Amino acid sequence: MSRVALVTGGSRGIGAAIAIALKAAGYKVAANYAGNDEKAQAFKQETGIPVYKWDVSSYEACVDGIARVEADLGPVDILVNNAGITRDAMFHKMTPQQWVEVIGTNLTGVFNMTHPIWSGMRDRGFGRIVNISSINGQKGQMGQANYSAAKAGDLGFTKALAQEGAAKGITVNAICPGYIGTEMVLAVPEKVLNERIIPQIPVGRLGEPEEVARCVVFLVSDDAGFITGSTISANGGQYFA
Ligand code: CAA
Repeated sequence: MSRVALVTGGSRGIGAAIAIALKAAGYKVAANYAGNDEKAQAFKQETGIPVYKWDVSSYEACVDGIARVEADLGPVDILVNNAGITRDAMFHKMTPQQWVEVIGTNLTGVFNMTHPIWSGMRDRGFGRIVNISSINGQKGQMGQANYSAAKAGDLGFTKALAQEGAAKGITVNAICPGYIGTEMVLAVPEKVLNERIIPQIPVGRLGEPEEVARCVVFLVSDDAGFITGSTISANGGQYFA
């Protein structure tokens, strides 16, 4: 029986590349998404990967959504916490709402997804959790006090949970992508992207979603059973944590 993988934010951007790569590697994959029905349906049509709509910032919605996935595909063996949003603003202009939304999705969402799945993984003695953090959780980023705080929080969460899961066959790792050519990054003002960000990337280009997806495929494999609590940086040399 092939293992079941659930990818949050899995119908677009890095998440879509991860879902596609996991399917290609032989897993049964489900993709969660929050809002864009049209993109999600197109993704399902193109890939054959089932999509499930719920908001990871709600614990109840996660419990309900995970139950739907498990009823269709079986217990979740592999969880990829990829869903994330930006609400960029210089701190003096940042609103409490921008703070709450980003922490709610990017940090609390990781708790909300992992907590309902954790007991089953412990009982079965196997699990793979990969948290998609960010270079900006490692180094901080102007205009992203909210996002940097959430993504740094994801790294602390990863390291704590890795210790708890180790004796139960569960690995918990993080990937810190740098600037990847997705809608999220392309929403950065063009002048800022071209004059400030790309010149800081030694390989001289944005990353590709598939370059992150390949890291996930490795971390969830049986071959990676001795790797837990670690962070893979995939950032074109922009920052060495
Ligand atoms: N690096 C270096 N300098 C930056 C910068 C960055 N990432 N972002 C902004 N600046 C600079 C601007 O060039 C500008 O400098 P000058 O005054 O010398 O021209 C100054 O900071 C102020 O910027 P703005 O004029 O754009 O100010 P604003 O108030 O209109 O907007 C902002 C501020 C919302 C932060 C906007 O600049 C912005 O969106 N910046 C990008 C922030 C960023 O890097 N976000 C990452 C999104 S991608 C992502 O999050 C994925 C991931 O994990 C990597």
